[in-house]
Amino acid sequence: MSHHDERTFVMVKPDGVQRGLIGDIVSRFEQRGLKLVGAKLMQIDEELAHDHYGEHKDKPFFDGLVEFITSGPVFAMVWEGADATRQVRGMMGETDPADSAPGTIRGDFGLDLGHNVIHGSDHEDEGANEREIDLFFDEDELVDYDLSNAVWVYEDAGDH
Ligand code: RTP
Ligand code: MG
Repeated sequence: MSHHDERTFVMVKPDGVQRGLIGDIVSRFEQRGLKLVGAKLMQIDEELAHDHYGEHKDKPFFDGLVEFITSGPVFAMVWEGADATRQVRGMMGETDPADSAPGTIRGDFGLDLGHNVIHGSDHEDEGANEREIDLFFDEDELVDYDLSNAVWVYEDAGDH
């Protein structure tokens, strides 16, 4: 199963949670064929926000970003599948919802750069997916199991 088991960290941001978008967003990844291996509703504190968005600490938008991401609960997830990190980023759209194509999550649900509904690990930042999974989840919060529909999602996963 080796090339089907890439994991990525995904999070519905406080605006997405408040707007009732958790279900739709989870549904999109399920329908794509990705496997959910961890999920929790949680409140990000200041320290975790600084760790998570450390790469932006010198940017002018950093304080606003930390304030926003700690302003209410987020829905943190780990999804697994072939090329999962890059595929999730594609499904999210561009950083700015205004530049995001219809059919993408940000392109369907957002209009404002600062309230862009979802986070996903950056596929261009080597190892960001594993680092973010470690930051948000304990090992025992991730579930190892076979998804029975994998034989229909992947040509090389079974007899179909
Ligand atoms: P994210 O990390 O949240 O998934 O978003 P991203 O990779 O698409 O974008 P990134 O460059 O990592 O920026 C992180 C978040 O900061 C906010 N931002 N504001 N005012 C600005 O110029 C600006 N630029 C970025 C966005 O909310 C972005 O998601
Ligand atoms: Mg980013």
